[in-house]
Amino acid sequence: KEVRVFAPATVANMICGYDILGFAVDSPGDEVFMKRTENPGVVIRSIEGDDGRLPLDPDKNTVSACVKMYLAHLGLEKEVGVEIDLIKHMPIGSGLGSSSASTVAGLFAINTLMGNPLSKEELMPFCIEGERLACGHGHADNVAPALMGGITLIRGGEGLDIIKLPVPQELVAGIVFPQVDVPTRDARQLIKEKVALKDAVIQWGNIAGLVSGIFMSDYDLIARSMQDVLIEPTRAILIPEFYEMKRIAEEAGVLSFGISGSGPSVVAISKGHEAAQKAVDAIQQHLNEQGIECLQFVSKVNVEGP
Ligand code: HSE
Repeated sequence: KEVRVFAPATVANMICGYDILGFAVDSPGDEVFMKRTENPGVVIRSIEGDDGRLPLDPDKNTVSACVKMYLAHLGLEKEVGVEIDLIKHMPIGSGLGSSSASTVAGLFAINTLMGNPLSKEELMPFCIEGERLACGHGHADNVAPALMGGITLIRGGEGLDIIKLPVPQELVAGIVFPQVDVPTRDARQLIKEKVALKDAVIQWGNIAGLVSGIFMSDYDLIARSMQDVLIEPTRAILIPEFYEMKRIAEEAGVLSFGISGSGPSVVAISKGHEAAQKAVDAIQQHLNEQGIECLQFVSKVNVEGP
């Protein structure tokens, strides 16, 4: 009994919806290979693609820690044993929901091996706990789209509603990861606790406009709404060449440009593939000229999840 599961990278915040909006992309994503063993217990056998940065200790690694939590919840921790190989296809601390993709893949894998006793909705609390372990805060805007696929809206503090929004057919995300490390924990500490009411009004108007635009596939409304007046001005300072990249993306004709999750990856969201590709190519060229290495991914919204 063994299973291989892929879970997608995610763009949290969707520019204006800090902690409440996110979408999954077709690539990159992480993979988990999980195998039942004779002896009870959860073992991480190997991790690929993390440059040796992630812990192999099953209590410290978020994938195995969540699998243990899941087995304990079902009362199976003394009976069931699994070995895990984790294959990372995206950098850690990149703003692409790297830890979420691994956690979601791990939980989906164990649930599959157990014969799917829990629904995706029931797996969500374990995913959120994994996020808390990874960065100190249990926000759901990476794990929800990674698990459910598509675009998700998260409302409420306690007792979350996780709402799957429709996916406008032509939405494409061009992602550039400038190779600097910005841990989510640090990027969250930077943000001001209080916001001005006039900024809050603009932001929630934008969020409502974006959600309406998504339902109506109104790309002009989506473009006008995907603006962040609260978080981006603070976090932009962590990202090299942010405002120059933004200018380049706008010139390429994208709908919007901003930070992916907590950065340093940036995302150019466009109608159709062409503008996104043009934006990321031009951004990559500019960064390279500045001596900054980067990776790029251009992808449609992933609608399936793992
Ligand atoms: N909403 C979170 C943040 C996502 O912006 O800090 C982190 O991936």
